[in-house]
Amino acid sequence: AGETVTVSLTVNGEPRQLQVTPNVVLLDALRDDLRLTGTKKGCDHGQCGACTVHVDGKAVNSCLRLAVMCEGRHVTTVEGLARDGQLHPVQRAFLEHDAYQCGYCTPGQMMSAAALLEDERIAADDASVREAMSGNLCRCGAYKNILEAIQDARRDVTAGTG
Ligand code: FES
Ligand code: FES
Repeated sequence: AGETVTVSLTVNGEPRQLQVTPNVVLLDALRDDLRLTGTKKGCDHGQCGACTVHVDGKAVNSCLRLAVMCEGRHVTTVEGLARDGQLHPVQRAFLEHDAYQCGYCTPGQMMSAAALLEDERIAADDASVREAMSGNLCRCGAYKNILEAIQDARRDVTAGTG
């Protein structure tokens, strides 16, 4: 193994330190070093979205992001989506709409959905949401329910009841 680097960052609101070799990606650091295994490894090549987390509030594929590039950043994983004992509106809506089958893509879907609800550049119509979610693949084909869940979560957030 090569030399390790210390990376200080905030994960789910808590200051954490990583001790990683420079080639380690955020996905592996989260799963292996911090034991945050909610973030899934699908393709490991930026093509499926299973590894989606938020870095400074933006959805990113953690399999493409080097851990050393996350110095000083705020990372949120699916484990940090619920706040103060309350499910995030996206989590509630995914449950209500059965927006998963095997569940493998679900953490990534929810992280992308949560980010898109915060992104005012993305229009609210179904086509725009589908387009914005196109980086998140679902082998089980749960797309219809995922879309319904996101639109329901949006109504929640817009109404201020989320
Ligand atoms: Fe990162 Fe597939 S595991 S995009
Ligand atoms: Fe199985 Fe999406 S629920 S991959």
